[in-house]
Parts: sequence; C-alpha cells; structure tokens
Amino acid sequence: MDRNRPSADGAAATKARVSAATNTTWDEDEAMSVTLMAERTAAKSAVAPATGDFMSGVFEVQHPLIACHLTRLRDKNTSSPEFRQLVNRLATLLAYEATKDLRVEPVIVETPLVKTEGRQLSQRIGLIPILRAGLGMIDPVLELIPSAEVWHLGLYRDEETAKPIKYYSKLPPGRPVDVALILDPMLATGGSAVDALTTLRDWGVRQVKILSVIASEEGVKRVECEFPDAQIYVCQIDPDLNDRKFIVPGLGDAGDRIFNTIDHD
Ligand code: PRP
Repeated sequence: MDRNRPSADGAAATKARVSAATNTTWDEDEAMSVTLMAERTAAKSAVAPATGDFMSGVFEVQHPLIACHLTRLRDKNTSSPEFRQLVNRLATLLAYEATKDLRVEPVIVETPLVKTEGRQLSQRIGLIPILRAGLGMIDPVLELIPSAEVWHLGLYRDEETAKPIKYYSKLPPGRPVDVALILDPMLATGGSAVDALTTLRDWGVRQVKILSVIASEEGVKRVECEFPDAQIYVCQIDPDLNDRKFIVPGLGDAGDRIFNTIDHD
C-alpha cells in the first residue's frame, strides 16, 4: 500500500474518528492531509474505536512544505542555524495538525464596531519538551499557543544500551494539564517517549500527543503498543534503525545538530 495515500476505508475511518472527537465537519481534502499510520503499523489500531472522548492513532502528516523542509533537514551539509530554523518550521506545521481537536468555548469579544461571539481555549495545555532536542520545538508551538505551560523532562539515551536515562523532571504536584504535547524531534526506539508517557500518566494527564519530526517504524509500534491511547504526529516514519539505534535514513542526532555539538574528531 502507498502509505502516503490512505485507502478509502482508511480515510473514512480517519474522518469518522475526527468527526466523533471534535463534533466538526470534515471534508475529504482534509482527510487526505493526514495518513492514519495505524493501518501500516498495527492493524489493531486501525479498527480500534476512539478511546474515551478523544481519538488515538499515529498520523504521518502529509504536506509539500513538510516534505521540502524535511529534505533540507536530512542533508548532512545543512548548518546548525538552518537546521534550527527547519525544526522550527516543521514544529509549527506539526502543531497545526496536532491541535485541531483542542476544545474551545464561546467568548464575547468587542470589535471596534460591535460585540460578537468568538472562541477561546477551554483546556489547560502543557508542552513537555524532552531535553535537549525538544527545546528546539518549544518556541514555535508556544507562538501558536501562548497560554501553554512548559514542563521540561530531561532524558538522554545511554550510548551503550540505547535506553533512556532520566536526569530532570519537575512536574508540579498539583492538578495535571488537560492535554500534554510531548515535543521531541526524534522517536527512535521509542524508549524516551515511553518514559515520558509513563511520567505523564503518573501525573494524571488524560490526553497526550507526541510531536516528532521523524520516527522509526519500530519506535512507533512500541509506543502504540505500550500507550495505545496516545496520539503520535510525525513528519515521516523511516523504515529502519541501525545497530546503534539511529533512525535510517534519518537525519543524524537532532540534539547535536540543533546545538552544534557534533563531535568532528
Ligand atoms: C534523542 C532524541 C530523543 C531520543 C530518541 O535524544 O532527541 O530524545 O534520542 O531515542 P529513543 O526513541 O531511542 O529513546 P538524545 O539521547 O540524543 O539526547 P539529546 O537530545 O540530549 O541529544
């Protein structure tokens, strides 16, 4: 199956889920802007009904600008300043897609002419950047959701085991946010995402969306399997991990490329 073109059934399933989750209308063009990757990664998700009152699933966001920016991002000759800009743009495009089901409530606004009804967010939104590389995605998402709270998690992958090591977590003890957006450009084995999801579940967050620029099939399957309620929004899912657990073809190490800490020796 061409993964960039969901089958009629897949598009219909997407349409049904999004409509059920948001109570909004949904046209076929919009349905084509995301691919329900569940068809490709786990048959169970493709047929699973929406859980609770929001949908779950894996969405590889299809957009010509995403394809072009991602190509520049992959290029080994792209400089750190340009790499940061590209991550910024891709995070904006991902966040646009990932926030389509946020809840709003009516609010009266006074224009220079009359009073009229508008909308304001009715949920507490938390951005959870995974240090370090996730730092590169905060500003563009905050630009879209200025009222969002930012709660950092520090994780790095042990070079030998590829397992995540947690070194920072300072979530507040009180009431959790309503929706958490995990920001991390890369989802490789899925270990870091699973660790972050576990932390957010322990905090009591009900709805979690992972925003990653690039992911591996293996990592996506693992996250789907361990956290079937989570949503994953990704620009592209690559087929392989190499023996060092790097995504292939991938883009290298996003953290090092964002912060210009590549070891040139
Ligand atoms: C990278 C990346 C993710 C993680 C993905 O971080 O930003 O956090 O690895 O790998 P996984 O899915 O196999 O867990 P890294 O360990 O390189 O830390 P950094 O962001 O500080 O560079």
